[in-house]
Amino acid sequence: MKKIGLTYDVKTDYQRRDNDPHDAIAEFDHPSTINILVRAIESNGYKVVRIGNANRLLDRLGSLKVDMVFNLSEGMYGRNRESQVPILLEMAGIPFVGSDALTLGMTLDKIMAKKIFISERIPTPKFFQIRNIEELVNADHCRFPLIVKPRFEGSSKGLSESSRVTNMDELHARVKLVLDTYKQDALVEEFISGSEFTVAIVGNDPPEALPSVQVKIDGRLKLNDKFYTFARISSRRLEYVCPARISRSQEKKLRELALKAYQAVECRDFGRVDFRIDKDDNPYVLEINPLPSLSTDDVFMLLAKQKGITYSKMIGMIIECAFKRYNLN
Ligand SMILES: Nc1ncnc2c1ncn2[C@@H]1O[C@H](COP(=O)(O)OP(=O)(O)O)[C@@H](O)[C@H]1O
Ligand SMILES: [Mg+2]
Repeated sequence: MKKIGLTYDVKTDYQRRDNDPHDAIAEFDHPSTINILVRAIESNGYKVVRIGNANRLLDRLGSLKVDMVFNLSEGMYGRNRESQVPILLEMAGIPFVGSDALTLGMTLDKIMAKKIFISERIPTPKFFQIRNIEELVNADHCRFPLIVKPRFEGSSKGLSESSRVTNMDELHARVKLVLDTYKQDALVEEFISGSEFTVAIVGNDPPEALPSVQVKIDGRLKLNDKFYTFARISSRRLEYVCPARISRSQEKKLRELALKAYQAVECRDFGRVDFRIDKDDNPYVLEINPLPSLSTDDVFMLLAKQKGITYSKMIGMIIECAFKRYNLN
């Protein structure tokens, strides 16, 4: 029986530090997500070895006997946090499911990813970067309203109602908060008023884009100025709708752009691309997630249902993509 190691960061493992923002553990999984995933992997006929985070992996790297690692680790701090487990596995010559260290670092850093999108002519909202508050003299490179995000976070970490800003004073206050609280550059983007979608992708050579999933907030699909804040995720005011309520040509366009983004940053095995579509039907890629949530509340579960397969089968397909990629099947 093949053995699959599992690397992950669970909320209960995190040691809070002084001055941590309230959403410091937003990116980590619930232990229950890991338990469900273990059962799903086992039901595909593999034996699971639970490893845990990068430190636990480091402790046993030399003696680890597994055929493949399924990596879900988010890492603790910095823009290379998601790259830590993959680089250790690569050094030890252990095959793993999902993207490598370079892709994870390049995409966790939203500014780097946007530079790649621009070079590949993938539409992404206009933006600028603020490294320190003195740089913020004026914002005439973009038009208000703007949204201010931390440069390298996920799970709507650092996003609240006041992240959408409509004038210089609000912009200044929000940039300062990101710099001071999240200790990283601020990414300031044009706010795309309209609707929101996410497209999951599975596979390699060629990858397949799954049906797009639409985001509903407070019961509405026309989001206008609403967006996905940390509080909205936590309070379950957000729902996913599949199939999305868009025309066939829009659906086709989103899937094409998602695949283009996936290939531009060289994702492997699975990923997810987030979009907004403005009032004139122009799509924009917000970001790509090579390590999207596999929680059963999230889109992969919904997409399995849509496909008429179980969650376990969906997980099995992702693992098979990795074995095939390494010619180990
Ligand atoms: N330029 C934008 N225009 C409108 N809404 C945005 C924009 N950027 C981000 N958002 C909102 O914030 C959410 C989180 O932003 P995103 O870039 O996907 O970061 P992450 O999911 O990594 O936290 C999006 O799902 C969307 O609702
Ligand atoms: Mg996102």
